[in-house]
Amino acid sequence: MDHKKAFKPCDLVIYGALGDLSRRKLLISLYRLENANFIEADTRIIGVDLQGLKNDEFIELAHTSLKEFLSDAIDSAVWKRFSARLSYLKIDLTQMDQYQQLNAVIDQKTRIMVNYFAVSPFLFKSICQGLEHCGVLTETSRMVMEKPIGHNLQSSKEINDVVASVFTEKQVYRIDHYLGKETVLNLLALRFANSIFTTNWSHNTIDHIQITVAEEVGIEGRWDYFDKTGQLRDMLQNHLLQILTFIAMEPPVNLEAESIHNEKIKVLKALRPITLNNVEEKTVRGQYVGGYIKGDTVPGYLDEEGANKESTTESFVALRVDIDNWRWAGVPFYLRTGKRLTGKRTEIVVYFKQLPHNIFKDSFRELPPNKLIIHLQPNEGVEIEMLNKIPGIDEHIKLQKTRLDLSFSETFKESRIFGGYEKLVLEAMRGNPTLFLSREEIEQAWTWVDSIQNAWHHYKDAPKPYTAGTWGPVASVALIARDGRAWEE
Ligand code: BG6
Repeated sequence: MDHKKAFKPCDLVIYGALGDLSRRKLLISLYRLENANFIEADTRIIGVDLQGLKNDEFIELAHTSLKEFLSDAIDSAVWKRFSARLSYLKIDLTQMDQYQQLNAVIDQKTRIMVNYFAVSPFLFKSICQGLEHCGVLTETSRMVMEKPIGHNLQSSKEINDVVASVFTEKQVYRIDHYLGKETVLNLLALRFANSIFTTNWSHNTIDHIQITVAEEVGIEGRWDYFDKTGQLRDMLQNHLLQILTFIAMEPPVNLEAESIHNEKIKVLKALRPITLNNVEEKTVRGQYVGGYIKGDTVPGYLDEEGANKESTTESFVALRVDIDNWRWAGVPFYLRTGKRLTGKRTEIVVYFKQLPHNIFKDSFRELPPNKLIIHLQPNEGVEIEMLNKIPGIDEHIKLQKTRLDLSFSETFKESRIFGGYEKLVLEAMRGNPTLFLSREEIEQAWTWVDSIQNAWHHYKDAPKPYTAGTWGPVASVALIARDGRAWEE
């Protein structure tokens, strides 16, 4: 294992091994981890599925997935090591007696059993019952699942209850792949390892904060899933709220999972509810119509394959969020996320307060505020916008806006930036729960989002159209302009 610390090897069982999630994400991430020598020598990967393949056929399908979805070339030595870990079991997940096969394969004396539920949540109950029925689980076993963990508080509780009937909370690893992103983790470092930020991170110095998660892609052939879900549930309930909690939480006492979860939950509990009374003023829903992305025409949401022409599901959402606690009183957070926007861009912009008096009126009638811009993806990095004197021997001091620019790819030339999945799959195998979501966090997030969803339901306002390839509906500009502010473009 090179110079890296050794962890206990795993039997990683992937239920739904031939499904989309497994083929596009898991197998690719595992291969990359193999390539970087991060997988313990004795770890095995067991694909479970209904198709009744032979081991060799499964290995061949894994190879095909890599060829299809891995951006780099497959290295034959790495593939040899990786493929030697793969095996296959045919289990109909609804048939209890078929789970017995796991007992013959899983070796819990030397390995930890990690159960990755890469299937639709409606199968979770059968898998949990099957695992219990065959008696293969021990107290060291783990289970990994990811969104959608329900589509509202009630359904999320049902899923969590099913899982809790077999696994304790400590054994459950709930993935939000944004928490595996290098730049999201860097928020902890930025905030809690740099005194210039720790002392300037509150209503005293910050005017407002913007979080943008703009996507270029449309719904990518997932009409059925997406139309029942919408952008609020698909992106904001999880990814944007997670970013928000990292930005807004109090310093945790350490980096242990419990300390971080506790601080994040406090933020979620302090979110001011959006209800029928304020939903019109605080939210904007949008739906894209046909337009251009990078010069190519793209269809509108209602013209996507399989679309129901009457759909009022939102593909864009913008919100003004207030956090009712001591630190953030009076500091609005503006959040927006949408499909088919101008480009792919995930960023946080922290606007500091304007200075009380301006002695540089020759340059600026009003001094522009300092900004901290955190680029989460792509072009990962951090910039600070500040004012500097333009060099010269003129009588007057002339100022110009300038940026301190810390680009990760330039600064950390030797380090590779791993994808979110790689990090999280590795942490699940290592048994480090810090980057996973607790049940309470998810349920708290649903409570807040359900209130918006209910308000929309009663308000019955159709989503505002926006042309694909733009920044969303004009109403989202008005949402922030009403407060005398503008989105960072
Ligand atoms: C997923 C959503 O969770 O995140 C997708 O279901 C979305 O709709 C995707 O496109 C975005 O992830 P990333 O890592 O590309 O920003």
